[in-house]
Amino acid sequence: VRNLYLVRHGETVYNVEGRIGGDAPLTEKGLAQANALGRHFSNMVIPYIFTSTRQRSAQTAAPVLAGQERQGFAATRMALTEFDEINAGVCEGMRYDEIRSRMPEIFDARARDKYNYVYPRGEGYSTLKARVDRGLKKALFLSGNAPAIMIVGHQAINRMILSHFLFRRTEDVPYIYIPQDQYFHIVSTQKKKLFELVRFTG
Ligand code: F6P
Repeated sequence: VRNLYLVRHGETVYNVEGRIGGDAPLTEKGLAQANALGRHFSNMVIPYIFTSTRQRSAQTAAPVLAGQERQGFAATRMALTEFDEINAGVCEGMRYDEIRSRMPEIFDARARDKYNYVYPRGEGYSTLKARVDRGLKKALFLSGNAPAIMIVGHQAINRMILSHFLFRRTEDVPYIYIPQDQYFHIVSTQKKKLFELVRFTG
């Protein structure tokens, strides 16, 4: 792969409520972001589009896939569980302020060492790494020498994917800013890697 387009799903009902995890659909704004993404890529060829198995990821990818079809290309979309968002275990579906008031020990422990903290019955960034690495390997293998692939991931997933390409201290990785109206374009050649953050709305 030469071009990796790393996108986060558009705004969801859970994002608006400040809830984590789950499988919420996109809001009106999220659907508008997805449509803007589709328009942005409407005359670019993306032969492989990888999503997670969550509906917010599939909904975000849909207009991009439709755009490929309109150009006469049959892009391959694959949903990989490896790209599903971090499993927050006992905190799934909660708001951060609820976690802070009802499970302060979890909130504090995570704030102290976000990278290494593992949610009870869930995951942490440190344990997510192996799963995301596996997903990335799979995606790169399946797409062979395609010139471009897109991954429509999630906040924690995209941080982990970016950490492959960016030099960041591990403790900084859980704080990388992952917007919903911009994507990371990563160009890899044997000699160099280039990054750009591209806005696709407005
Ligand atoms: O809030 C959206 C979300 O994708 C949650 O589902 C997930 O738990 C969270 O982001 C991960 O981000 P952080 O590690 O900053 O809590």
